[in-house]
Amino acid sequence: MTTRREFLAWTGKIAIGGMAGLAVLEACEPTSFPSAASNSVTPPPPGPDGRIGIDVSDLTSSNPAKMAPGLTGPDGMPVMVTFTGGTSYYAMSMLCTHAACEINSKASNGVIPCACHGSQYDLSGKVVQGPATANLHQYDGVYDAANKQLRIKLV
Ligand code: FES
Repeated sequence: MTTRREFLAWTGKIAIGGMAGLAVLEACEPTSFPSAASNSVTPPPPGPDGRIGIDVSDLTSSNPAKMAPGLTGPDGMPVMVTFTGGTSYYAMSMLCTHAACEINSKASNGVIPCACHGSQYDLSGKVVQGPATANLHQYDGVYDAANKQLRIKLV
């Protein structure tokens, strides 16, 4: 027969074990997730070619990266567009390939950091510093000079 004291001690151990388990699980989770608030603008509809036009007229060598307003890729992460000079633009997922955090939406000195564990990518999405070992996922983009848009396919 279990006494009341033994029962309370037993349930206390379960509660402490459960809290420790939750702390371990939280430590394994990425610390940054895409939020609806961070990219809540209504995205433009795709054109007849299936591409979505993103205004890149505001990207310059001193402001070479931004989050594409309202766009979320198939991976559930926002889309970043970058400018590397001339008419070279890139569109890529903001999903860090290390442990699935959302990378920073701003570049500094041509580098896009991930705040979670310090990975860095260049403006084309290539890893320049780990722990990430894979480049950011790139979306196919075509520059439309007449409309100053990067027209991308989200696949
Ligand atoms: S998730 Fe680890 S560096 Fe980005």
